[in-house]
Amino acid sequence: MKRKFLAMTLALAMGLSLAACGGGTASTPAPAETGEVEATTPAETGSTGDVITVGFAQVGHESDWRTASTKSAQDVFSAENGYDLAFVDCDNDSAAQLEAVRNFIQQGVDYIIIDPIVATGWDAVLTECEDAGIPVIVIDRTIDDSDKYVSWVGSDFKVEGLACGEWLKAYAADKGITEINALVIEGSVGASATIGRTEGFKEIADREGWTILDSQSGDFTEAGGQEVMESYCQSYAGQFNVVICQNDNEAAGAMTAMDNAGVTYGVGGDVILVSFDANKPYVQMVMDGKINANFECNPMAAPTVAEIIQQLEAGETPEKEIYVSESWFVAEDNVSTITVNGEEQECIYVTQEVLDARPY
Ligand code: AHR
Repeated sequence: MKRKFLAMTLALAMGLSLAACGGGTASTPAPAETGEVEATTPAETGSTGDVITVGFAQVGHESDWRTASTKSAQDVFSAENGYDLAFVDCDNDSAAQLEAVRNFIQQGVDYIIIDPIVATGWDAVLTECEDAGIPVIVIDRTIDDSDKYVSWVGSDFKVEGLACGEWLKAYAADKGITEINALVIEGSVGASATIGRTEGFKEIADREGWTILDSQSGDFTEAGGQEVMESYCQSYAGQFNVVICQNDNEAAGAMTAMDNAGVTYGVGGDVILVSFDANKPYVQMVMDGKINANFECNPMAAPTVAEIIQQLEAGETPEKEIYVSESWFVAEDNVSTITVNGEEQECIYVTQEVLDARPY
């Protein structure tokens, strides 16, 4: 009860502080989803001596990236660290994700973490959280139709897409490739990760006069990537020289489809293959020359979320938007830097040492 009063006071203070800043709206967009509850047991630790209860409505389990994100949250919000985590895998179902959040409100958790499956449809349920005095922290993907959350921690997906385009431009110039005919395998429809990466790459493609032959959703899964690539191999046989997969699992599926169709890819192949996420096994594939470039999406938001919770517990006001740091990994050393939004960024040539240092 004491903790709930604290949460309500903090939410009120946050609202006042945002109002004082002219509304404090997030400049980023976000998505939503559902799942089944799997609660852990509480521990008698934590800075105040009380167990902090946290509900986490996770997108699902569609990718290696998602597995890393879930593990990070379960490690950080452990009983040993003074938390009682109610974890819900929403299985990429937006209605289930809204239901999960409402269940957390009913349970009276101290904090709610949401990784929104889709970017819209959030204001009503976030208002219910606010009315219940439960601070919400959004991670990874963004919410673009409500600002009723304390903080968002995640990636700049548009920058990831822009970086992909700028690297491809520099790479093609170095190789003497004058025509780009690209096929894009997008992530899940309505997810801010999909929206940002698509927009960023398209911006460069339009500027450079490249052809995007097709752009379809592979739903961030290996099966989805394979299915879309099989159809592309039939429809665009001999017409494409670039395949952009919006996550590593889709890239795995696309590789299977291209292997089956006799299309070569990677260093020395017919097709330049690009991926996003940079999970360790796929950075290995960059080192092996199967993937030409891989643009990281950092899944380790949970430690920052724990810091935000501790700030709230201490009566402080956390930052509204926190971007995680990300790197770009490449298979050849011909492009060492690119300029994105006027900022010079490194392209990391993958060696065994680079691979060994990857945390996930
Ligand atoms: O929202 C992050 C994206 O979601 C990752 O790129 C993808 O692997 C995951 O499913």
